[in-house]
Amino acid sequence: MLQKIVRQILLVLWLFLSYNGVEGRKKLSELEDMELEKQLKLLNKPAIKTVKTKSGESYDCVDFYKQHAFDHPLLKNHNFHPQMKPTFAEIKRSSYSSTTNRLSTIWSKDGGCPSGTVPIKRITKDDLIRQRNMPPPEPANFDDEFSNNNIEQKGSYYQFNGYKRAIARPQYDPKLTKFSGAGMATSLYNPHVEGQQHSACRLKIQNGSDILQVGWRVDPTLYGDNNTRLYIHYQTGETHCFNTLCPGFVSVHTDIPLDLTFGDNLSQRGGSPKEINLYIYRDMGVGNWWLLYGADYTQVGFWPHDILNELKGYATNVDWGGVIYNPPGLPEPPMGSSFYPTGNSSFDAYCRNIAVSNEDGDSVGIYSIVWLTENKFAYKIQFDTISEGSNTFTYVFYGGPGISNP
Ligand SMILES: *[C@@H]1O[C@H](CO)[C@@H](O)[C@H](O)[C@H]1NC(C)=O
Ligand SMILES: *[C@@H]1O[C@H](CO)[C@@H](O)[C@H](O)[C@H]1NC(C)=O
Ligand SMILES: *[C@@H]1O[C@H](CO)[C@@H](O)[C@H](O)[C@H]1NC(C)=O
Ligand SMILES: *[C@@H]1O[C@H](CO)[C@@H](O)[C@H](O)[C@H]1NC(C)=O
Repeated sequence: MLQKIVRQILLVLWLFLSYNGVEGRKKLSELEDMELEKQLKLLNKPAIKTVKTKSGESYDCVDFYKQHAFDHPLLKNHNFHPQMKPTFAEIKRSSYSSTTNRLSTIWSKDGGCPSGTVPIKRITKDDLIRQRNMPPPEPANFDDEFSNNNIEQKGSYYQFNGYKRAIARPQYDPKLTKFSGAGMATSLYNPHVEGQQHSACRLKIQNGSDILQVGWRVDPTLYGDNNTRLYIHYQTGETHCFNTLCPGFVSVHTDIPLDLTFGDNLSQRGGSPKEINLYIYRDMGVGNWWLLYGADYTQVGFWPHDILNELKGYATNVDWGGVIYNPPGLPEPPMGSSFYPTGNSSFDAYCRNIAVSNEDGDSVGIYSIVWLTENKFAYKIQFDTISEGSNTFTYVFYGGPGISNP
């Protein structure tokens, strides 16, 4: 009898507790939902017009003054405007007439965004939920041991939180320790990634914990698809994000979305490579860092001086090359063309015409580098200067198959 009562009490207690548990979870997810809605409201600004690309993607044309960057508390009293232009001391124009295809307009026949607006992809709740699985960025102190020697590691799997790189940086030169800009032409590929892997090529500039990046990446966790897309990354101290997911980058151009997809405009091994030119240059006047796109240095926008710390001054590091991420326990994805470099630009992923600009803003070609590969069995790097006609071009060839069975 007593036993029966005790059992009944326990049963009631159990029912009560489990009922509360369910309620608890439901309340939490409602809270989460509210949090997501709040985030969406902050990220998605009213659209003046919605436009479509040839590949069928929609972009909101957001009033220049309403963009998310201006939610930054330090940009409350900005005097930026859509027509603003940077002052660069010099941008060395390449006399090379490119045989590679330039990417033409991306918009459908109805056209792009009107002037005074910028194209921004509307973020959905699914995007936010998926993006919670994004790994933390590469640690900022990542580079400390990357001194003035080439470094070739044999790849220990969990090093550096799952990041592996095959990158090059300028050889140390006591006359060139402050960089006011950097650039490259990078060939476009579509390495195969799965799950939370990603695979990218980038130009990166850094001083201390301030890091700015531009490049292309295949990153289903960020983008929700396997397309090769443009990206930028902003990192200062503990703050970091891709594209305009946090206030960091002020877009000025009506035609260049930061996450634009290259669709089928990709290099095929053995064919003539498809490439894009990317630059990050410091405005010599105010010290904003500008993102320039394409052979004609189209001004896409800038990271304002006011919201940077160490990069208020010059950059102390610049690097070019490939980076992948594999979650712990999973294999490393391919990088670049997915093959080891052969030294032929028709077959290899590359960053070419790598250049920096010095303290005075003058462009300096890079003819000697140091390189780093974090798993030499998965990825390699090769540096070459190649004469084409009367010009000499520098190539950082990089890439590899990754490892299919760790
Ligand atoms: C890809 O190439 C096609 C044809 O040249 C062009 O119409 C399209 O705009 C290009 N896509 C991008 C993203 O540049
Ligand atoms: C990316 O490709 C992989 C392998 O083909 C596939 O399993 C995955 O569903 C794709 N991801 C997306 C978001 O399309
Ligand atoms: C890098 O940042 C530090 C800390 O703010 C600064 O003292 C230094 O001058 C910067 N370096 C350059 C080259 O501007
Ligand atoms: C690179 O490959 C292409 C295509 O096979 C070939 O025509 C070219 O001669 C090669 N270049 C070099 C430098 O070997």
